[in-house]
Amino acid sequence: MEIQKVGVVGLGLMGNGIAQVVATAGYSVVAREVNDELLEKGIKNIERSLQKFVEKNQLSEVEKQNTLARIKRTTAVADLKDCDLVIEAITENPKAKKELFAELDRLCPRHTILASNTSSISITEMAAATKRPERFIGLHFMNPVPLMKLVEVIRTIQTDDEVFETGVRFAEKIGKVPVRTWDRVGFIVNRLLIPYLLDSIRALEEGFGSIPDIDKSIHLGLNHPMGPFTLLDFVGLDTTLFIAEIMFEEYREQRFAPPPLLKRLVTAGWHGRKTGRGFYDYSDPKNPKPMNLQLT
Ligand SMILES: NC(=O)c1ccc[n+]([C@@H]2O[C@H](COP(=O)([O-])OP(=O)(O)OC[C@H]3O[C@@H](n4cnc5c(N)ncnc54)[C@H](O)[C@@H]3O)[C@@H](O)[C@H]2O)c1
Repeated sequence: MEIQKVGVVGLGLMGNGIAQVVATAGYSVVAREVNDELLEKGIKNIERSLQKFVEKNQLSEVEKQNTLARIKRTTAVADLKDCDLVIEAITENPKAKKELFAELDRLCPRHTILASNTSSISITEMAAATKRPERFIGLHFMNPVPLMKLVEVIRTIQTDDEVFETGVRFAEKIGKVPVRTWDRVGFIVNRLLIPYLLDSIRALEEGFGSIPDIDKSIHLGLNHPMGPFTLLDFVGLDTTLFIAEIMFEEYREQRFAPPPLLKRLVTAGWHGRKTGRGFYDYSDPKNPKPMNLQLT
């Protein structure tokens, strides 16, 4: 099937990036937020991001204006009714997502594909809130969406093969690189990333090295763009703990169990960069200092 009009629900961190890349690729977009203020905030962020592409000569001023013109802004769910694909990127709350999908299912024609950008909620569970589980997929974008190439395309046992492949082709058409995966918590990226991050904390607890030395080992020894503690502070320790707990609940395997130190840091309110402290102290943001975590 041919996708022409795409709904994006939620214009937060992920949703505004998704609306931007979909509109840049030439699709008509209907972007929905809960009120005018958040709608404007989302659109402002898209404008700012597109402007950066103009400054880097990767987009012309005319293309920027045309991209913005392709995004219809609304606070009414009913305006999504003639979309061929609706991508949901609202707050990570199962009840809110299921209510939204039940409403979209009532509103949208039979052919519309419904997709969620969730990081941790079961795609099958959300599909069950609709009468079209065979037309339901996950489209998991990476943050920041305009820069990150990967999209995990997720199917359930109920997803129609053609719908799944339409999702894969759509990701390609918006300039991303799709990978096919299955409805299991963490998909591919977090299945591998979360145990690695948790194991880095265990290595620190066990005295294998200091925070900067473990970071340097991975950064310079494996050529990763950053070491695990710098990455943990970027992702947010609260977010990492939340995902680890959901993965541990799903798999009941020790490798997903959050180490005590991670829980203590989150309880102390040290959530990483966004709170000014995590494994590093960001009092001077350009020159983070490793925290003394009194591990001896
Ligand atoms: N932040 C990340 O790095 C990341 C990465 C991949 C996937 N995700 C997933 O993407 C989704 C969104 O995450 P985010 O970080 O953009 O969150 P966010 O809090 O930045 O944005 C969510 C937005 O959704 C809006 N919203 C809530 N209910 C709505 C509704 N019914 N209709 C329209 N808008 C509504 C909120 O007002 C808010 O602006 C979550 O499911 C999250 O798990 C996040």
